[in-house]
Amino acid sequence: MVKKVSIGVLVSGSGSNLQSLIDHSEQGVLDAEIRIVVSNNPHAFALERCRKHGIPTAVVDHREFVSREAFDGRLIDILKAAGVELVLMAGFMRVLSRDFFRSFPMRVMNIHPALLPAFPGMHVQRKAVEYGVKFSGCTVHFAEEGVDTGPIIIQAVVPVYDEDDAESLAARILKQEHRIYPQAVQFYAEGRIECEGRRVRIRNTSRMAENALQNPSLTGF
Ligand code: GRF
Repeated sequence: MVKKVSIGVLVSGSGSNLQSLIDHSEQGVLDAEIRIVVSNNPHAFALERCRKHGIPTAVVDHREFVSREAFDGRLIDILKAAGVELVLMAGFMRVLSRDFFRSFPMRVMNIHPALLPAFPGMHVQRKAVEYGVKFSGCTVHFAEEGVDTGPIIIQAVVPVYDEDDAESLAARILKQEHRIYPQAVQFYAEGRIECEGRRVRIRNTSRMAENALQNPSLTGF
């Protein structure tokens, strides 16, 4: 019996990753309790999803704060008051300050729709298509002060096809995001994550087969 981890989720938009966390928790395969969802955007659809599932929400509009520190201070207060242990950034479009990470040391995760350290930042599905990479994917990592840096917990790889545009690639990546984010949280809940510098190890995972992926497929080589 795994003790449920108390999570707080930071969102700005659609919240499909949040929905995946909700669904897996409700199905009982993710040992997490969503204590609070905080949005900086009062119109985020993620808030609507919370209403449907009876999840408490807070809106902290960054435009009402004089500094990043003041904004982050409010987030910290709300998350602490809700008893949050692990903070999940899920499509949260604000950069957090050092104070925030000091309040939740190695207890903030982020999901990014590329294979970090390639393509950090914004609009990365478009950048991946334009660059011409043959694979992209998504990364769950511990968040720290830098943007999209921090020790990597899980990555999932998807092919990029000749006919892809940013939207079709984003949709393919998003499907994988919805699998690896709950899995990363479950590893955390089970106390299986070990961190040594930048290297994260998950205790007792089965090793994936050493089959290389090629895209396009090889013709007999
Ligand atoms: C996802 O692609 C996530 O990786 C990125 O923003 C998007 C958010 O999607 N950080 P959603 O709000 O979870 O639907």
